[in-house]
Amino acid sequence: HFGQVARVPGDPILGLLEHFRADPNPAKLDLGVGVYKDAAGRTPIPRAVKLAEQRLSDSEQSKSYVGGHGDPLFAEGLLRLVLGHQSAVLGAGRAGCTQAPGGTGALRLAGEFIARCLPGRAIWLSQPTWPIHETLFAAAGLEVRHYPYVGVDNRFDIEGMLAQLGRVPSGDVVLLHACCHNPTGFDLSPADWRRVLEVVRARELLPLFDFAYQGFGDGLEQDAWAVRLFSEALPEVLVTSSCSKNFGLYRERTGALIAIAADAEGLQDVRSQLAAHARNLWSTPPSHGAAVVGLILGDDTLRGCWQNELDGMRRRVAGLRMGLVEALRTYGLAQRFAHIAEQRGMFSYTGLSAAQVLRLRAEDGVYLLETGRANVAGLDAERLDQLAAAIARVVTD
Ligand code: LMR
Repeated sequence: HFGQVARVPGDPILGLLEHFRADPNPAKLDLGVGVYKDAAGRTPIPRAVKLAEQRLSDSEQSKSYVGGHGDPLFAEGLLRLVLGHQSAVLGAGRAGCTQAPGGTGALRLAGEFIARCLPGRAIWLSQPTWPIHETLFAAAGLEVRHYPYVGVDNRFDIEGMLAQLGRVPSGDVVLLHACCHNPTGFDLSPADWRRVLEVVRARELLPLFDFAYQGFGDGLEQDAWAVRLFSEALPEVLVTSSCSKNFGLYRERTGALIAIAADAEGLQDVRSQLAAHARNLWSTPPSHGAAVVGLILGDDTLRGCWQNELDGMRRRVAGLRMGLVEALRTYGLAQRFAHIAEQRGMFSYTGLSAAQVLRLRAEDGVYLLETGRANVAGLDAERLDQLAAAIARVVTD
């Protein structure tokens, strides 16, 4: 009976949000969960999403189930957004999209597929990675292993990463963050990606790209560069795409698993399995968010409006990164924290220790993950000086 059920600690990211909400400090600052905030501190619904929702509410005829792979309009738009309009892989019918409840659902579906259809393959994660990667793939029954990513000096360790990948058993799966690495913010350069591709090809590894921040790094097209490079160069690639951040659809749970197979026939075998596993996991995917994304991507006006807004979000985060480093200059800390301006996406591995993070939380109501990860997209431009002062105090005391 339930008496035997042990209590487990709360989720490291969502649990922190609860602590933040319960903190009475009026000057508190949430830099925990990866959610974009505008200058007013709100997480906006993009205008294109609102317009598409209005259109949908007028035109939607039924709430009957969508198919196992989800909304075809969404699939068509997302495949092009991720793989590119000129994609040879798409032209050859080698890529398919299976809608899932968010990027997390897509990752779980990928985990199920690998565990059931490619047994014996371990999955290799960057050290560190998004904590849910660790638990999610283990829950799917996969053996989880690690390759180095950031050294003790809080710098991206490309040599360590390549050396370990070169020793990964042939056939294993390697999880790669397509852009805006979560939690560190350190991304690979095009030259780094080419070196990783060579190792992946030589060891015959299966790349699984987690693509949760398209548009938040350097731009929609630029951020897809590595995914497209690998997709065009290799016979088999998996990509999980999330619309949570770039469409602001967080709670609508909108994402997809994109499978690329060696040929169109092989793709259909893979898709039959994905539909079967999705049926066991969630039956059919939620409709609303995907219908909205499908409308936006299929309509030039809505798409343009969305891209402008996304560009604005990306520029704002980049500005906050530079602003924070500038604010730290007052305390002689610009050099020490210069990496914050070089990292990409929502997150920064600040290099602050767990003890420093806990002091910031207790003394200033500033909430970071204990690993030192800060959600830069949650910063308030008006309070960068206040934050810099707090950081200066905990690093120099
Ligand atoms: C994060 O890492 O904060 C985001 O990906 C949100 C989440 O679900 O954890």
